[in-house]
Amino acid sequence: MIYVNESKQHFSLQTANTSYVFCVDGEGLLRHLYWGSKIENTEELEYEVLCEVSTNDPVHEITPEEFPVYGGLLYKQHCLKAKFQNGDRGIFYQYEGYTQEQNTLTIHLKDKYRNLLIDLEYKCFEEYDLLERKVTITNNTDETITLEQLQTGQFHIKKTGLKFSNVHGHWGAEQNRFEQEVSYGKILIECRRGISTHNHNPYFILHDSANEDAGDVYFGALRMSGNFRGVIEQTPYGETLVQLGLNSHDFNAILKPSEKMESPSIICGYSNGFAAMSHNLHSYARKTIMKPTRKMVLYNSWEATEFKVTCDHQIELAKKAAKLGAELFVLDDGWFGQRDSIENGLGDWYINEEKFPNGLNPLIDVVKENGMKFGIWIEPEMVNPLSDLYKQHPEWIYHFDKVISDTSRGQYVLNITLPEVKSYILNMIEDLLTKHDIAYIKWDANRPISQSSSDKQIWHNHILAVYDIVAKAKEKFPDVIFEACASGGGRIDYGALTYFDDFWTSDNTDAFDRLTIQESYSYIYPIKAMRAWVTDCPNFLSKRYIPLRFRFHSAMMGTLGIGSNILKISEEEETIYKDMIAQYKEIAHIVQEGDFYRLKPISQNKYYAYQYVFENESLLYVFLPQTLIGHNKARILLKGLSPKTTYKVSYQDVVIEKSGEYLMNFGIQILLSGDYASEIVKINAVYSIENN
Ligand code: GLA
Repeated sequence: MIYVNESKQHFSLQTANTSYVFCVDGEGLLRHLYWGSKIENTEELEYEVLCEVSTNDPVHEITPEEFPVYGGLLYKQHCLKAKFQNGDRGIFYQYEGYTQEQNTLTIHLKDKYRNLLIDLEYKCFEEYDLLERKVTITNNTDETITLEQLQTGQFHIKKTGLKFSNVHGHWGAEQNRFEQEVSYGKILIECRRGISTHNHNPYFILHDSANEDAGDVYFGALRMSGNFRGVIEQTPYGETLVQLGLNSHDFNAILKPSEKMESPSIICGYSNGFAAMSHNLHSYARKTIMKPTRKMVLYNSWEATEFKVTCDHQIELAKKAAKLGAELFVLDDGWFGQRDSIENGLGDWYINEEKFPNGLNPLIDVVKENGMKFGIWIEPEMVNPLSDLYKQHPEWIYHFDKVISDTSRGQYVLNITLPEVKSYILNMIEDLLTKHDIAYIKWDANRPISQSSSDKQIWHNHILAVYDIVAKAKEKFPDVIFEACASGGGRIDYGALTYFDDFWTSDNTDAFDRLTIQESYSYIYPIKAMRAWVTDCPNFLSKRYIPLRFRFHSAMMGTLGIGSNILKISEEEETIYKDMIAQYKEIAHIVQEGDFYRLKPISQNKYYAYQYVFENESLLYVFLPQTLIGHNKARILLKGLSPKTTYKVSYQDVVIEKSGEYLMNFGIQILLSGDYASEIVKINAVYSIENN
């Protein structure tokens, strides 16, 4: 709910359990007042009249503003910097009023000297305890204005000594959660690569000694892939500032008269503990962004064949995949142009006749006859220098006039912000989807942008063009599912999730490494979008051997995929594949739609445990990568159950019936032995006192 006190110019955004409050202060600045646990009577929150601490600490500097802009006596991080035609660079806004439409509040600000409008939009998602904010800048002057910086907003947390967390990583090692203390000086997370990044993720989590169940947690995730920047700073005035938005590195945006620019939005919230944060974000993603349908179990041949794809071999794989229980067969890289290695083919989206003499349809027919849907890999933003497309249109790649563009993975990036390039890609996709019965597209992007052209706006416009192509393709083919992949998990963010349906989480398919990757991922992103494959051993990256059951259990934590060479598996393995895939289909609704809990098993051994709760069903996944001296059991306290309900818990040939309060307080004991041991425990409600 949104409450506005017009006379006090006081705005309260109320969700089920939180309040976010700001007002217009005596200086005419949009002053942040409160963010945290719900306060029913937010009008008790009044702004304090601020006086400059000294000439070096002017009022603007110490005012907690919702959207500080560059200009005048303001030296801190700001959200907007504009350059006018005569060289002026200061903005001085005034409050012009607000509009409210149901759960959306827009605050209208305007520069005092020029007709430059700043509209701050706040959308309230009451049941998910979330807000979504963004800003739109409109140039109503008759001059061209250059935006040199545009951040979506600033957040103020009236606390110091907070902990900041995000993920770090690189290819094959995405999503490594880290935590660090916020002190004086700035923490910066960013992407300068245009396409995506494995290094950081566009979100912030700040907390005050929180754990999964309790403690103040403030978080925000940017709805955008590509060049972002997040700055976190503890100020000398006793608070913590956060900003998130477009990266101002090599950025500007030209606004001609009557043009406007919208920032990407931030989905943000306050929660008590990390689990509530994840549940709110996951539910919001599942219910407001994602399709409601269950994700299919897929087979993808990449690790089994790499570029050596042929129609006959793919047919063999497809038949076997169907026999094992796969529901979707995805043909990965190598089917088009002269694509025998990374060096050629990208850009030439015709079917390779040597590999598929009668086109793709003979394969698709077999896939369908065997009860599966068909999916295909493309990498539309790229071109190889050896391709026909590049020979015809060398000017289509990002380039500078007098500099040779760099190749990476043997490819250039196409300037898809050019209308002719964008139509070429859209036509290619529509043609593929028109001529073939394709249910799934894996969209890859395997290198960052370089030599980005003279237009600094392309960093942002590139990603908008990607979104637009996917949106347009989906308009025509609404049932097609799009997977976002960028050299593995380089395009995992809420911007991508708005247009794509699945995330390829990482090229690292080692089942043990995946526990770290998947756990870190789960803080912000929904399990239902987390693709995970069972692949062969030794793993191509870690060179590790892990038993098949553990590999399955690890991949069954998300949306299950098979990526192994299934033509080479033994009969015994085949039985495990069939059983596990069948088991996954029975529990997929709990995994994909349930609330996910990161548990802390109590043991001298390093157990990993995760739980899913969906209505009256629950699953507990337990992993023991390595038995240590002591060979201890793990006591695991379950979560999210209803205390007075009796549950049947089945594990390791044991079946017990216990109350929710017993299971959550006393827990269950599990002993796993040996290395790479794992177990999925089923927990079902059998009797509820509340229902009687
Ligand atoms: C990237 C993807 C892989 C695979 C290859 C194909 O690395 O992450 O899954 O599709 O490209 O070239």
